Amino acid sequence: MKSDLNPSGAVSLTQNDKTVEFPVFKATHGPDVFDIRSLYKQTGAFTFDPGFTSTASCESKITFIDGDEGTLLYRGYPIDQLAENSDFLEVAYLLLNGELPNRDQRDWFDSSITRHTMVHEQLKNFYSGFRRDAHPMAIMVGVVGALSAFYHDSTDINDPKQRLIATHRMIAKMPTIAAMAYKYSIGQAFVFPRNDLDYTSNFMRMCFAVGAEDYECNTVLCDALDKIFILHMDHEQNASTSTVRLAGSSGANPFACIAAGIASLWGPAHGGANEAALNMLEEIGSVDRIPEYIECAKDKNDPFRLMGFGHRVYKNYDPRATVMRKACHEVLDALGVRDEPLLQVAMELERIALEDEYFVEKKLYPNIDFYSGITLRALGFPTDMFTVLFALARTVGWIAQWSEMIEDPNQKIGRPRQVYTGAPKRDYIALHKRGS
Ligand code: SDX
Repeated sequence: MKSDLNPSGAVSLTQNDKTVEFPVFKATHGPDVFDIRSLYKQTGAFTFDPGFTSTASCESKITFIDGDEGTLLYRGYPIDQLAENSDFLEVAYLLLNGELPNRDQRDWFDSSITRHTMVHEQLKNFYSGFRRDAHPMAIMVGVVGALSAFYHDSTDINDPKQRLIATHRMIAKMPTIAAMAYKYSIGQAFVFPRNDLDYTSNFMRMCFAVGAEDYECNTVLCDALDKIFILHMDHEQNASTSTVRLAGSSGANPFACIAAGIASLWGPAHGGANEAALNMLEEIGSVDRIPEYIECAKDKNDPFRLMGFGHRVYKNYDPRATVMRKACHEVLDALGVRDEPLLQVAMELERIALEDEYFVEKKLYPNIDFYSGITLRALGFPTDMFTVLFALARTVGWIAQWSEMIEDPNQKIGRPRQVYTGAPKRDYIALHKRGS
């Protein structure tokens, strides 16, 4: 990655009659940044920013979010245009390479991904070590973390060829590993990938085909899932992507870094929200019970949150939720379940929340997870597979961000500092001299 950080001015800080200056770097879109890398050296102080809400951890050219406008760009292209006009592997190529592929590039990429979809036969042994009722995300963390034990020929992060193979292996094998986690949980035999199917149809078939009969993928449903995957692919420096970058900054192999990202995504405040949002809709159960849940969400003493609402960055409607909402209606119409009770609850909850002063004042809009759960359940996935599908799609963003970090001339091992407010330095006291 070529760095494009060019000083566009300076900002000064004055402390105890001493003034120091820091360069300002201009962004293509969004906030400029103050380069404070010399802050500690010049002032002896750190910044304090829990959750890094005001901190740019890196320079990136992959994704841009404008939280106030509610826009999301993948390499400059608006997410709604990509979701409507592109497909998973084309967007994956775009995120990895920075440009949409021409015909030859697309054919080469498709062929490479297709030929890496199978997993080592011994990888299957990992599944039988889990209980059948193990959460599929627990299986994903374990099995993906184990990949580095099988693919030693693509773990040297300093070799661009090995990084490319590892990147294609990760993207290609995630659907196979995810489908195997699902099959294992329902006691059905694993289904091999097929080279004549596109990425998402292949995944749907590996999940829903059985030995006794094959699975014909309904194009409306496969297209909807492909769109859902595109929406989930990348999202700047979110918690799981930052986890992948931090793990990768130590030189850890890409398979281990992706496993770390899966673990972070699992949290209900992050990727686990789609599972939590559907569980919440089921708990609410009917439109007339919505007001009591809205009151709980507003009560500071109640830990309940409206799952699928709010976002660290979006203070406007999540543009992915708009596309997700449309895909949800398309799937339910295609399946003839338009009057799905949960959809009625979701639409009424959205309507009420968007009018309620608490949510309006705090700018809490539905996020991508609000409608994805209803859609994924309609596609036939159990609730505990929702975050697995999120991880499948986000693997492209994680590996693209990891590659960018490795190639970034400014990258260092991540090592945040702290403000220490613990006990002052003191001497050891022998047991018999301590108070009772
Ligand atoms: C994802 O980072 C990413 O990009 C993530 C993601 C991605 O693609 O990687 O977009 C995927 O994780 C989407 C978010 C999924 N999570 C949920 O839907 C869980 C429910 N949402 C909340 O947990 C919450 O909104 C967060 C965690 C998403 C954001 O938390 P913040 O940053 O603390 O939210 P905030 O600062 O904007 O909150 C402002 C206020 C706070 O109250 P006050 O302290 O001002 O009194 O709104 C409250 C919050 O307590 N609030 C909510 C709420 N979300 C925030 N109150 C009720 N219900 C909610 N959902």
